[in-house]
Amino acid sequence: MHTSLNVTTHSFTDCRAQAAALAERIAERLRTALTERGQAVLAVSGGSTPKELFARLSREKLDWAKVRVTLVDERWVPDTDERSNARLVKSLLLQHAAAAATFIPLYTADATPEAGLAVADARIDALSLPFDAVVLGMGDDGHTASFFPGGDHLAEALDLDGHARVLPMHAPDAGEPRITLTLPTLLETRALYLLVAGEKKRDLLADARLGLGAAQHYPVRAVLTQQRVPVAVYWCP
Ligand code: 6PG
Repeated sequence: MHTSLNVTTHSFTDCRAQAAALAERIAERLRTALTERGQAVLAVSGGSTPKELFARLSREKLDWAKVRVTLVDERWVPDTDERSNARLVKSLLLQHAAAAATFIPLYTADATPEAGLAVADARIDALSLPFDAVVLGMGDDGHTASFFPGGDHLAEALDLDGHARVLPMHAPDAGEPRITLTLPTLLETRALYLLVAGEKKRDLLADARLGLGAAQHYPVRAVLTQQRVPVAVYWCP
């Protein structure tokens, strides 16, 4: 285990062990929330990395009927689209024991994230944050959630003093328009996890943390350098 400032890194020799460890950790968090507050709220990323985590977490025994699950970001596509993060979460996480959980989508049927923003914002507002756990991922370009380099609302989304809970995001490498929770919203959490795989991302993360070279501009750096919530990185090769 390696610790630096606000970031603790848990490294695993295989990705199944990484997913199992994080699933257990999150399940513990959710159980604690249920015991202490009678409800729990979890926000997860899409992408390919969390698939094994979702499969494991879905079989954890806890009172999922009292758990609400939402996304840290979403691609602006309906949940019938294979790029949809909602689709991923429904097909892998909200299965088995976790099928009883309530899913709170960010996508609305509106044509654009701008048009759906007020509804998405109200859905997040209704969760009465803090989250019990937030799971982030990271792209090869240093994006996390939908904080993409060159994103049209990037500065606003990363503003720790900003008041927006949710923002649209358009970026050259984002594929489609996105909607994302802002950094201050993601930091309203009792636990923050960053799930990454591969040596390339390990190196990128180290550079981003230290602000070396191009990595000083990677959006993920904002997560790594903030001092509001400790970040637990879960890494596997
Ligand atoms: C999304 C995600 C995004 C993701 C990274 C990493 O909707 O794209 O929420 O932020 O976590 O792109 O994705 P991979 O796990 O596929 O590398």
